[in-house]
Amino acid sequence: MRCKAHSKSFAEGTGSYTVALSPLHARKPFRIRTCEKRRCKSSGIRTCKIIGLKIPWNQHLQKKVGVGVSRLPPFSLSTCCPASLKTARKRRALTHFAAEAILEAGELSGRACEVTPSAASQAMHRVYFDHNATTPVDHRVLEAMLPFFADEFGNASSIHSFGQRTRAAVERARESVAALVGARPAEIVFTSGGTESDNQAIFGVVAAAPGRAGAECKHVITTAIEHHAVLNACQALERRGVEVTYVPVSQEGRVDPEDIRHAIRPETVLITVMHANNELGTLQPIEEIGRIAAEADVYFHSDAVQSAGKLPLDVNRLGVDLLSISGHKLYAPKGVGALYIRKGTRLEPLLYGGHHERDRRPGTENVAGIVGLGKAAELAREELSDGATRLAAQRDRLEQALLEQVPQAWVNGSRDHRTPNTANITFPFVEGEALVIALDLKGLACSTGAACSSGAIEPSHVLTAIGLAPEDARASLRFSLGRDTSDEDVEFALATVPAVVEHLRELSPVYKKPVAAQ
Ligand SMILES: Cc1ncc(COP(=O)(O)O)c(C=O)c1O
Repeated sequence: MRCKAHSKSFAEGTGSYTVALSPLHARKPFRIRTCEKRRCKSSGIRTCKIIGLKIPWNQHLQKKVGVGVSRLPPFSLSTCCPASLKTARKRRALTHFAAEAILEAGELSGRACEVTPSAASQAMHRVYFDHNATTPVDHRVLEAMLPFFADEFGNASSIHSFGQRTRAAVERARESVAALVGARPAEIVFTSGGTESDNQAIFGVVAAAPGRAGAECKHVITTAIEHHAVLNACQALERRGVEVTYVPVSQEGRVDPEDIRHAIRPETVLITVMHANNELGTLQPIEEIGRIAAEADVYFHSDAVQSAGKLPLDVNRLGVDLLSISGHKLYAPKGVGALYIRKGTRLEPLLYGGHHERDRRPGTENVAGIVGLGKAAELAREELSDGATRLAAQRDRLEQALLEQVPQAWVNGSRDHRTPNTANITFPFVEGEALVIALDLKGLACSTGAACSSGAIEPSHVLTAIGLAPEDARASLRFSLGRDTSDEDVEFALATVPAVVEHLRELSPVYKKPVAAQ
């Protein structure tokens, strides 16, 4: 099918379309003869089931397609995708198909009809390699959540049937999250995300710790490469008189468990070490540190925001007393997370209010978000090993080919101990921020670990902690792959990154092209 306005086929992978009728028909309702029509009583939105059209790539989708068409021109078109459509590529193809169907329907009904890809969709092919920053909500997760925004709206603390149903949904989600990390459901507390979980663990343990007799202050041990949710919490503790030891890491980005052991003092009340680093993907020896913490009888918290859903997790094997999880890193929505709190752990709440979450975290539960997190945890468990193998293969292909094609580039962090989806690469002689912007203009989204503070680009604290010079830290990019990443996406990155790096290097006054070997 060709678009009349542009006399060209729709580009594959475009996502949404604007449907405009000719002015003559613009104010009349648009009938699509090839569709079954329904009208939602509450929203007034018309939905049509497209029938009688061929779908080349998957015949049985034919019956499942739902298309929402608003009444006023220009009609904007969106598809309600069935849960079976797991990948963004399939969803885009479905919307594309629906746009073609409208166009065809317009022709069949003898009306002048124009279907144009919307501005956003007309943009180039876009590849998202920033899953450590956030992940899209999985459509199966969204589907599980939707009833809890409107139909199932009860307060989970209410004793009537409305409340009972949402309470049951919250408890099912708690079971799924507990199963993801090998915990008991009663040990899971829902929070607003990774930042709150980290803060609750750190401030909660320190506040509840009695302090050792005769000790002047309490002491906390962490590492130099933690996320700011931990580092800034520790700095706040320091301002309140708590002493904090920031244990350094090796060039590979790993902490030596013996350094943790040596940092322990009689007044140490908490050890907090992240499981996977967000910039490097590097994994810490949590099991060994767990044993050391248990021997010393010190509480042990781990920020598992970047490993939950990517690797198997078992709180008992890891030996942690507290573990943080964030929904939006594992295909659930932003603004929901969980904290595992081992039974018997002494902890002051961060907030004061009602008796929710067994007095651990007051506030009416974010039922839809919690249900989403529960569904995401269930899916992560089911797809963990296949997903990890595929991601590691794609990540390795990307990394290997970039190292071959870009002179003088190198990989940061341990290549043996890391999450399967993350590659952090330094491209010396380029400015990382400029590279991110140039790649974005070509359609590839990735990130630097750099932070912008007071107008100046600060090199990443993680990369400088592993020994990179500030200019090399600023020349580093993180590529983080995800559930939707296809082999074609990796090839797209390989066709894009080397050329963009080469171009930026040519503009650099300090870059000297290596002379090719004879
Ligand atoms: C390792 C780590 N911890 C904590 C957080 C904070 O999580 P949230 O965004 O859910 O507050 C992040 C987010 O990037 C993270 O990567």
